[in-house]
Amino acid sequence: MLAGKRILLVIGGGIAAYKTLELIRLLRGQGAHVSPVLTRAGAQFVTPLSVSALAGEAVHEDLFDLTAEAEMGHIRLSRSADLVVVAPATADLMAKMAQGLAGDLATTLLLATDTPVLIAPAMNVRMWQHPATQRNCSWLAGDGVAMVGPDAGDMACGEHGPGRMAEPAAIVEAIAARLAAGPLAGKRVLVTSGPTHEPIDPVRYIANRSSGAQGTAIARALAGLGAQVVFVTGPADMPPPEGVEVVRVETAAQMLAAVEAALPADAAVFAAAVADWRVAAQSETKIKKQAGALPVLEFAENPDILAHVAQMGEGRPPLVVGFAAETGDVIANATAKRTRKGCDWIVANDVSPDTGIMGGAENVVTLITEAGAEDWPRMSKADVAARLAARIAQALA
Ligand code: C5P
Repeated sequence: MLAGKRILLVIGGGIAAYKTLELIRLLRGQGAHVSPVLTRAGAQFVTPLSVSALAGEAVHEDLFDLTAEAEMGHIRLSRSADLVVVAPATADLMAKMAQGLAGDLATTLLLATDTPVLIAPAMNVRMWQHPATQRNCSWLAGDGVAMVGPDAGDMACGEHGPGRMAEPAAIVEAIAARLAAGPLAGKRVLVTSGPTHEPIDPVRYIANRSSGAQGTAIARALAGLGAQVVFVTGPADMPPPEGVEVVRVETAAQMLAAVEAALPADAAVFAAAVADWRVAAQSETKIKKQAGALPVLEFAENPDILAHVAQMGEGRPPLVVGFAAETGDVIANATAKRTRKGCDWIVANDVSPDTGIMGGAENVVTLITEAGAEDWPRMSKADVAARLAARIAQALA
């Protein structure tokens, strides 16, 4: 799958560096050529000897190595690859990349390269969740840097949560997706997916039955065609696809903020089932049960994210695609919705309980464009996604 591909692999200084040895083995097993770059901190966790033995190539370590500079200058090294992969990408490396610092070989290569970059972050949970790291993530995404992981789980430091480096096999999958020279290579596409949760109080919320299956499949299909995908997802039933930038949100308001932060994009697909209303005044404390007195919830309208983006004027993605989940008069309602919201296309489907579509593996959709309504036969959600992604590629060509 990766035969002949040249990967420049930057190994940062974190305990996850031991997994990078396995990553090198997997990449070479697939026929890729790996040029390893070990940071000074990285060399505290894995030895240059094990890295070069597995890569079958000398490790590049020092910016001021005159022999290496004479044989292959650091600028050339940074550009001769098909993809630069940073694994593990530590909080420190990410901060330096975001700032454009170039104090050692790894960061100099990263600043000098014109090759796509994929990072696999790995750090302590709190370091990952720190606003500075999250800010660096958004900056790097804005610079076109793709990301795989981090995963949640037990960490070497004894804590639990997001921050573990993605498994080597998942990194390989993300590398393959990034290298897939598809028709959407170089295009940035935003996808919203899943339900939203609107809190009532700290323990209760209002949700809907969206599983996130269709949105996830669409993001995967777009990435498969080479797009750089930003995947803004509510609390869905399934894990997000590999090889996309994942932004997790809970509420509609958070989803809107994440969508705005992810723009500009060449196309945006709004597959999320966003709650139309939120509880107007969320209780700070758990609402107590009181004999004979039922709580009265007052609602406030949520922002319509699709309509907001479709009507935003400057900065509007050239192609805006909405979904219309209806339980009757599907075509008429969806056609009216397309005009009302101002989007280019609507993917309409009937989600009446007897169709089994909500939460199921298949979908029956009608694509509504300016030209009219186009019925697609019943097919898997993956096939709907593939067909929609192909249409998006056509439209952006
Ligand atoms: O109005 P309705 O919810 O049927 O519209 C569905 C479309 O609008 C979907 O594409 C959905 O993602 C989007 N939407 C949104 N924000 C809302 C409600 C719906 O983006 N608050």
